[in-house]
Amino acid sequence: MWAVNTTELATTPDTRARTIVVLASGQGSLLKAIAAGAGDSYTVGAVVCDRHCPAADWAAGQGLPCFVVGLAPGADRAEWNRRLAETVAAVEPDLVVSAGFMKILGPEFIDRFHGSILNTHPALLPSFPGAHAVADALAYGVTVTGCTVHEIDEGVDTGRIVAQVAVPVLPGDSQEVLHERIKVEERALIVTVLQAADPMHPTITG
Ligand code: GAR
Repeated sequence: MWAVNTTELATTPDTRARTIVVLASGQGSLLKAIAAGAGDSYTVGAVVCDRHCPAADWAAGQGLPCFVVGLAPGADRAEWNRRLAETVAAVEPDLVVSAGFMKILGPEFIDRFHGSILNTHPALLPSFPGAHAVADALAYGVTVTGCTVHEIDEGVDTGRIVAQVAVPVLPGDSQEVLHERIKVEERALIVTVLQAADPMHPTITG
């Protein structure tokens, strides 16, 4: 007969690596950094894209489970959110990370993973939300911008801020040059957050 110490079972911390699902739509440089940072604290269980894109090609080439859940023009968005949620849920993730995913997630998705979805955004929220954050920051003329990791809620880039890093805007910056300077910090920040003991509430110093 096994003797089970229930007190110990209840208080022993869960030390297994978290399973994360990465949502991506584009080049996938954030995805590559996240995959490179995987190890004791987390593993990438799958990559889910809304279109065929370099991120999906790279994931497939790495042998990572990769799913494309497309949304045809004019198609039912709630139904797409449900399909996306089913695909992600099948992986049984601890955390969902939107890393360059260029579609707004709806309540059918968010409610399913409430409290465990992070997004990385190329501006210092609450300034410059939306899909054109880098262009908007340049057009406004700010001298400092940056990147934000935040919890996803039902607004557009309005969720609770989890971590931020500031990045200077330099004279003569083009959108591409500034975005790449931001992405250098963004890649490091998302990996730091994901490696934290509690990624939804990380303690980040320095
Ligand atoms: C990143 O800068 C990410 O924050 C941004 O797209 C880029 C993806 O780069 N996402 C958004 O603007 C979402 N609103 P990547 O394809 O090289 O990973």
